[in-house]
Formats: sequence, structure tokens, C-alpha cells
Amino acid sequence: MALYSEKVFDHFKNPRNVGEIPDADGIGEVGNAKCGDIMKMYLKIDNNIITDVKFETFGCGSAIASSSMATTMIKGKTIEEALAVTNKDVVEALDGLPAHKLHCSVLAEESIKSAVQDYYEKNNIPYDKSKFPVLEDCEACDAGQVRMV
Ligand code: FES
Repeated sequence: MALYSEKVFDHFKNPRNVGEIPDADGIGEVGNAKCGDIMKMYLKIDNNIITDVKFETFGCGSAIASSSMATTMIKGKTIEEALAVTNKDVVEALDGLPAHKLHCSVLAEESIKSAVQDYYEKNNIPYDKSKFPVLEDCEACDAGQVRMV
């Protein structure tokens, strides 16, 4: 069996929604402390709906494929639906990632959450902070795996 699925190759070679949204309503940027890869997610939000999403990933092929797939999964969805997307969902949608590349998909989930949090903060919208990764008491950060940048 090939190490990477057709879908991973497809999203790596032809990533969807690449780029920047200059007037984004929410921007999330997360990094992986171990490999140094960085993912940036831009959201346009109208009436609780994610009307547009773009990403920039400076990282490995799995991270690029994960972020591309994640954008297709949240475009046109409500904020709540986007927040419900887990890295496991992204991996499943990609028909899997090798075990040693699973952490790359975590960046996709975290970047969505980070962008929504930015939107909440910019608009003074109250939200449950415990549902978002916090730099100070992030277990993943302590483990040196994922950190907010
Ligand atoms: Fe760094 Fe994939 S190796 S995100």
C-alpha cells in the first residue's frame, strides 16, 4: 500500500484555497515546535457563516494537504460546525496519513480554532475560552508538540 493516499497527493499538488485574505475577519497562526512548520488560516465570516477561507502553510506535504482539505471542510459552514472539525476528521477525509505524519493534521484543526478565536476577540464576542488552546497551559505545548505562535 502506498504511504500516502491519492487524496493526500491531490491536495498536496493542487491545494485548494491557498493564499491570503487581506481583510479577513479572523486570522489564526499556529506552529509545530518540533519541525518548525507554520500554518496560517484566514476566515471571512458573515452572519455566523464562513463565507471564505484561505491558508498559507510553510511546511511539509502532509501539512499542506491537511490545511487544504480543512478549508474545503469548513467553507460555507457555520462557526460551530468549523469548530467541531477535528484533526481526525481531516485525516479521515484525506483517506489517512502515515502515523508519523498525524501531528501535521493537528495544525489544521488548531489553525481553524485560532482563527475563530481571533474573530471572537476582535468583535468582543463572548466565548468559552476553555475550548481553545491557550499558550500558557497547553498540554501539547508542554509536550513540545504544538504551540501557538
Ligand atoms: Fe511539520 Fe508535518 S512535519 S507539520
